[in-house]
Amino acid sequence: MKILAPSILSADFTNLSQQIRLVEMGGADWIHCDVMDGHFVPNITFGPFIVEAVNRITNLPIDVHLMIEKPELYIKDFIDAGADYITVHFEEVIHLNRVINQIRELGANAGVVINPSTPVSSVRDIVEYIDLLLIMTVNPGFGGQKFIHNSLRRIHEALELREKSNSRFLIEVDGGINNKIIKSVSDAGADVFVAGASIFKAENISAATAELKNIISSK
Ligand code: DX5
Ligand code: ZN
Repeated sequence: MKILAPSILSADFTNLSQQIRLVEMGGADWIHCDVMDGHFVPNITFGPFIVEAVNRITNLPIDVHLMIEKPELYIKDFIDAGADYITVHFEEVIHLNRVINQIRELGANAGVVINPSTPVSSVRDIVEYIDLLLIMTVNPGFGGQKFIHNSLRRIHEALELREKSNSRFLIEVDGGINNKIIKSVSDAGADVFVAGASIFKAENISAATAELKNIISSK
């Protein structure tokens, strides 16, 4: 099954519960939360407090993307706040195997994120331990950027890696996903699709969600 995960980064925070209702009505599968600290990426968003609010608003699984330094210090806080999936950046974490274990021992699903310039092969020795491999399809930090095209080749490489290593991780894509590009990304083999601006900046948020969901669900 293909999974659509709207990113609340582009949502109207003056009415977050209404915004989440609208994507639920459109058929969203997960809610993606982008946590930024102004150090790992040049932007600041929110912490566990908002994730906890999202958890009270929705029953959908919460996918927390940590774009912060030393994410290992905050994993428990995000899981206590209701995170079901936590992804940490390959480029930031030195003891990746330990952090992945830490996430799983605390009861959440664990994922690794790679930036557009990080070779997919870098994660070869961790993929058998993860639930999710998030391939950034823009440089992390901001919503509304343009999809980087060689990401399609990188999805193929991740598929190959999954096969060769006999692993089961889901392949997630994040950045620049809209109704024009999503079909080719889906055909390339991605399983989970994060979309921010193309959903929350649309005139009709539910309809935009439903449109993306229909495209990925149809063969
Ligand atoms: C970027 C974030 C994304 C962002 C995607 O650093 O990780 O999740 O919200 O936004 P769009 O879909 O607008 O590119
Ligand atoms: Zn993200």
